[in-house]
Amino acid sequence: MNNLTFRNKAGLSAGFDKNGSALRLWDAIGFSHAEIGTVTPLPQPGNTKPRVFRLKKDKALINRLGFNNLGADAVKKNISAARKYLSSDFIIGVNIGKNKDTSIEDAVIDYKICFEKLYDVADYFTLNISSPNTEGLRTLQEDDKLSKLLGEIQDLNRELSDKKKAAMKTVLLKISPDIDKLSADSLYRNVIRHSIDGIIATNTTLSRPDMKSNSDEQGGLSGKPLKPLSDEILKLFDEMKKDSTGIKPVLIGCGGIMSSDDMKDKIKYGASLIQIYTGLIYEGPSLLKKILN
Ligand SMILES: Cc1cc2nc3c(=O)[nH]c(=O)nc-3n(C[C@H](O)[C@H](O)[C@H](O)COP(=O)(O)O)c2cc1C
Repeated sequence: MNNLTFRNKAGLSAGFDKNGSALRLWDAIGFSHAEIGTVTPLPQPGNTKPRVFRLKKDKALINRLGFNNLGADAVKKNISAARKYLSSDFIIGVNIGKNKDTSIEDAVIDYKICFEKLYDVADYFTLNISSPNTEGLRTLQEDDKLSKLLGEIQDLNRELSDKKKAAMKTVLLKISPDIDKLSADSLYRNVIRHSIDGIIATNTTLSRPDMKSNSDEQGGLSGKPLKPLSDEILKLFDEMKKDSTGIKPVLIGCGGIMSSDDMKDKIKYGASLIQIYTGLIYEGPSLLKKILN
C-alpha cells in the first residue's frame, strides 16, 4: 500500500488503544500494525459509563464510548516516545475524527488539525466517518460532504509532503456496515476521485442481527454477529474494484474475525489486510497466533 510494507496481514483495529499507550505490546505479540485512536483535536471524556457491554452468548460487544481520548497533542507524545522501542517494520496507523462539540459543518477542520498534528508520527491515517456514537458523524459518508473532506485532506497531504520533501501519507477511509448499494457506489467514486489508498470495511453496526442475548443497549455492535454484514460490504467493494479500471484501493477486512477461518473468509472476499478487536477480547492473544499460523 503506497510505500508501506506490512510484515503480515493482521492488525489491531481502532478503539482498543485510543491513545497509543500500549504500542510495544501490539508489536511484541506480532501484529503488523496497530491503528491508534480515534483521536480528536482536543481531549474529551466520551459518554457516561456504563458504555461497553459484553454479550457473551453472541461473542459480541455493544459500545457507545464516544471517542474518549487524550487529544492529538498527547497522542503524538505517546507515539513519539514509543517509536524507538518498536520494530522498524511495525506500522502505526492513526485513526482520526472530530470532537463532540464540533458541528458537522466544521468537521473537516478537526480532521485537518489531527492530520497536521500527527503527520510526523503516523505511518498512515484513517478517516473515521463511520462511528455510530458521535452524533451526525456518519452523515460525512454522504456524497458532497465526503468529497469536501477527502479533497481537503488530500490537498493538505500534498502540501505537507511538498514542505517536508517526503512521500504523501497513505490515507484510508473507514466505513459503516449499515450502508446501501447506492451509498457504497458514491463512496467508491469519491475514493477513486480523491486517490484514497484503501477502505476499512467495517466499523460497528447499529443493527441487531439474530441476537441470542439482550441487545437493547444503545451503541455499535461488534464481534461474531457483525461478520455477515461486514463480509457483504467487503464483497460489494471488491466487486466495484473488479469492475473499475485504473488505480484500485486496497481493502482491509474488519468485523467479526473470531478464528483463522474468519480471516480466510475476509481474504477470499477481497481483503489484503485484516483488523481485529472483539475477537481479541473473547479469544485472547492466542487468536493472533492461530491466524498468523
Ligand atoms: C469498545 C470499542 C471501541 C471502538 N472504538 C473505535 C474507535 O474509536 N474508532 C474506530 O474507528 N473504531 C472503533 N471501534 C470499532 C472497531 O475498530 C472495529 O471496526 C469493530 O469493532 C469491528 O471489528 P470486531 O468485530 O473485530 O470488533 C471500536 C470497537 C469497540 C468494540
